[in-house]
Parts: sequence; structure tokens; C-alpha cells
Amino acid sequence: MTTTRREYTFKPNQTEGRHGWLRLTPAYSVQLVREHLAQLPAESHVLDPFSGTGTTGLVAAECGLRCDLIDINPFLVWFARVKTASYSRADLETALAAARGIAHPDARIMSHGSAPHWVPPIRNIERWWHPKRLAYLSRLRTAILEAAPVNSPAWNLLLVAFCRMVIELSNAAFNHQSMSFKANDGQLSLFGDGDEALWSERFLRLVRDMAEEASQPLAGAVTVIQGDARHVPPPAHGTYDAVITSPPYPNRMSYIRELRPYMYWLGFLRETHEAGTLDWSAIGGTWGAATSKLLRWQPLGHPIPYSQFDALLSGIAAHSDILASYIHRYFEDIRTHLQSLFSVLRSGAKVFYVVGNSKFYDTLVPVEDIYVHLLDDAGFVNCRAEMLRKRNSKKELAEFVVSAIKR
Ligand SMILES: C[S@@+](CC[C@H](N)C(=O)[O-])C[C@H]1O[C@@H](n2cnc3c(N)ncnc32)[C@H](O)[C@@H]1O
Repeated sequence: MTTTRREYTFKPNQTEGRHGWLRLTPAYSVQLVREHLAQLPAESHVLDPFSGTGTTGLVAAECGLRCDLIDINPFLVWFARVKTASYSRADLETALAAARGIAHPDARIMSHGSAPHWVPPIRNIERWWHPKRLAYLSRLRTAILEAAPVNSPAWNLLLVAFCRMVIELSNAAFNHQSMSFKANDGQLSLFGDGDEALWSERFLRLVRDMAEEASQPLAGAVTVIQGDARHVPPPAHGTYDAVITSPPYPNRMSYIRELRPYMYWLGFLRETHEAGTLDWSAIGGTWGAATSKLLRWQPLGHPIPYSQFDALLSGIAAHSDILASYIHRYFEDIRTHLQSLFSVLRSGAKVFYVVGNSKFYDTLVPVEDIYVHLLDDAGFVNCRAEMLRKRNSKKELAEFVVSAIKR
């Protein structure tokens, strides 16, 4: 019987060295990716066109393979680069020396008396951070920006540790698929109230642990491209031998919603409207203005090659036109992606898509079946879906691996 199989979720990744640097709920399982990459010949060139936090790239590099990653979100592109980079001893020493300086009790920049610091333009910021923690994070960010050369490997490592602090000091709870807030009652999530020395110790510990993990050499080579998987660029040389990826699921989950705090603090988002614009450009995004744009969205007019697709849309439209458009647009985007992917693969290349089904009102969207039909329509052969695990939420919800071969 297929169960919820924790090993096939992002959860065990948190204790897997670099894989645990920053959590993203929809990140997929390191073990699953290892099982699939282990089947490939040593010279294989792998592509993940929806790479998120870079799980595929890091596993591929650990296995000595070449891997290209594509993601549309500039923060995730930055993070995947940092996570899969090679670090020299000097880089790590620079990061550690900077972190020690910042965490030192006499560090000038961290003192209360220093000038007021910048805070990100996040709406309702007081829901995210208690004022004391907010002021501390602001000083920490300024200290990091001054502690290492801009964009240097050390600077990047310090900023990832900063992102960890941003979440550890926040009121955000990530117990569900969509994140929620704990009451901002002055209680601190990890530390005693106001104990900034402990926070700085925690920051130093994070940088030490990351430096240790970053010192492990990676055998393979990873290239991270900021791009749109609806128009997959060809690799610099030849064609890809395999694809393993987990695209967005059509479940209204917004990556921007979860990533917002990092993106604002690190300057990847500067104004609130930018979040909606980015989510609209992503497949399956529904954050902010993306929702109202769906109201005006019109299909291209080529039917989705799945015989029950219109009935499925009508079932959803009976409750919500906007959700029906959301599902329609999602599968049009995936079709465009698969057609574009076909031309960058060698004949015989294997593709693996980890997808989740979804349910709106009483209509179950058999996402895995629709992928099988879209792959078949794009010219792939041996297209099939296999259930991977059940999800905790509703009982019909599950994840699947959809696989196919390029003819
Ligand atoms: C399920 S997540 C991938 C998670 C990844 N497997 C990991 O382990 O972190 C899907 C990713 O697709 C990205 N995405 C959405 N639309 C995209 C597009 N049009 N082109 C490229 N990436 C896109 C999102 O930014 C998100 O990072």
C-alpha cells in the first residue's frame, strides 16, 4: 500500500548537509532524486527546468554528473547557485571571520546606539517579527553587507545564514502547505526574550555549520539559469540525456508567498506589486494581481489533449470561473513547456516529473493522467504515471512520478 512516505518529502533534506540550508515546502526529496540519478550513465547531462532550491543540481553534483537548472524566480536562482557552488578554504575563512566579528559583543554595527536601519517594505511587517527581533535583523543585515565583498562567496554564505535567522526569529509557522502566523505575543520562537547575544551566537553557529558543509567538494558541475521553462534554451553543447523535475502543482500554492520574507530582505522584491507580477509570470501562480489577471485570461484555443478536460473545467466553473481559468492556463503552460523541452533532449532521453493531483470543490484534477497525455501529444513514448505517496491533506490527494522517453 502507498502511504505518506516521509522519505519522499522535503523533510529529511533538512539534515542532509547543504540540502538543509534553507527550507522550501515544495522542495522534493533528496532520496527520490538520488534513486533516479543513480540509474544514469556517468557522463549524463541532466536538466531540471523547475529547479527551485536546486535539489536536483546538488544531488547531481554529489554524484559527479553535469546538471543545468532553470527557475523563473531570481531569489531561487541566487540560492541554488550558492548551494551548489565550490568554496575555497579562503572563502570559508573570510565568511567565518566576518561572522565572528558580527557576533562579537563589541561589534559596533550591532549596538543599539547605531543609526536606525532599513527594514523591508513588507505589508503588516509587525505580524512577521516582534519589533525587537526586527531591529536586530535590520542591524544584522547591515553588518553582513559591510562585512564581506559584495557578491563574494563569503557574502553569499552569510546572507543564507541571515535568511535562516529571518525565519527563526519570525512568527511564521510552516506546518501547512500554506504558511500561517503564530500570535505576535512577545514570546520568542527559539530564544529568551530580547537576548541578542544568543541570537548572534546562533548566527555564528549557522555560519560555522554551513562552512563545514560547504567545505565538502562537489564532483559534478552545475549551471543555474534564470529563465522560463515554457521556452527551454538549448544546452551550450549537445542535448540533455535526462530530465528530473518537480514543476509547480495546480493547487494554488504560491512560492512567492513563502519566499516573500527572504526576497524583500535581500532586495529581490522592492515593492509589493512586484510580487504579483513575478507570480503571474510563474506557472500556477495566483498571488496578488495574478488572481485578477486570471479573470481576463483567454485560452490559446488549442484543446488540451485529454478527453475529459472540458467536463473537468465545467465542473470547476460551476463553482468558480476563475479557478477553471487557473486550471486551464496551468495545463496550457505545461503543454508549451513540454513542446519546448522536446527539442533540447537527445533521442532516448528519459524524463521524470514529480507531480501532485488536486481537488477543487468536488472535482478531482487527475494531474498525473493529464501529464501522460500531454507528454504523449508532445511526441514522447512510454508515458506512464506511478503513485509515489499519499499526501496528508485530503484522502484523494497523492504525488506521482510521471515518466516518459523521447522517441
Ligand atoms: C515545486 S517547485 C520546485 C522545487 C524543487 N524541486 C526543489 O527541490 O526545491 C517549482 C518551481 O518552479 C518554478 N517555476 C514556476 N514557473 C516557472 C517557469 N515558467 N519557468 C521556470 N521555473 C518556474 C518556481 O519558481 C518553483 O521554484
